[in-house]
Amino acid sequence: MAIRLGDIAPDFEAPSTEGTIRFHEWLGGSWGVLFSHPRDFTPVCTTELGAVAKLKPEFDKRNVKAIGLSVDSVADHDRWKGDIEETQGQALNFPLLGDPDRKVANLYDMIHPNANDTLTVRSVFVIGPDKKVKLTITYPASTGRNFDEILRVIDSLQLTAQYKVATPVNWNDGDDCIIVPAVSDEEAKQRFPKGWTALKPYLRVTPQPNK
Ligand code: BEZ
Repeated sequence: MAIRLGDIAPDFEAPSTEGTIRFHEWLGGSWGVLFSHPRDFTPVCTTELGAVAKLKPEFDKRNVKAIGLSVDSVADHDRWKGDIEETQGQALNFPLLGDPDRKVANLYDMIHPNANDTLTVRSVFVIGPDKKVKLTITYPASTGRNFDEILRVIDSLQLTAQYKVATPVNWNDGDDCIIVPAVSDEEAKQRFPKGWTALKPYLRVTPQPNK
């Protein structure tokens, strides 16, 4: 079954390069990014894993734990880790799940049989501290993901959760935000002391609240 926004992220227990992971327990009160790789010793995946490892300080700043999945064994992952460090100049610093029986891949609908009947596509799930799925993205195996974009979405999700603002097209950290329609003008006066510009009654633009 497809996983939809707002669903509780399915829990699982699986082996990883950092030992057995009980997913919900491992997430604790953090946000999470779970992302899949078609398989070990593949070129695009090697670049992605190095890039995510380099972004660890950015994930930490946002209270986000990253976790990858590849449908090979942890023993294979352990051999692959050396190649990642050697070619990307960065060691893996987050867990990579082993999933040779495709238990987690099937639970998260990461195998799209009309694309490839055994390997996963490049799925991304962002999960909130309430364990609910906040974002899903699916890329084909041949396209490496843009993890800066995933950080950008996490910034937007965290602003919405904390300040009741949405973010407009092509928004980046520091840009103006939009007051969500569910907030009345009365409530907005309390919440947004910097004020707002109402381009339309439903389109109220305010400076980013945490800047
Ligand atoms: C890769 O990770 O490089 C890759 C995996 C499957 C198909 C194409 C590319």
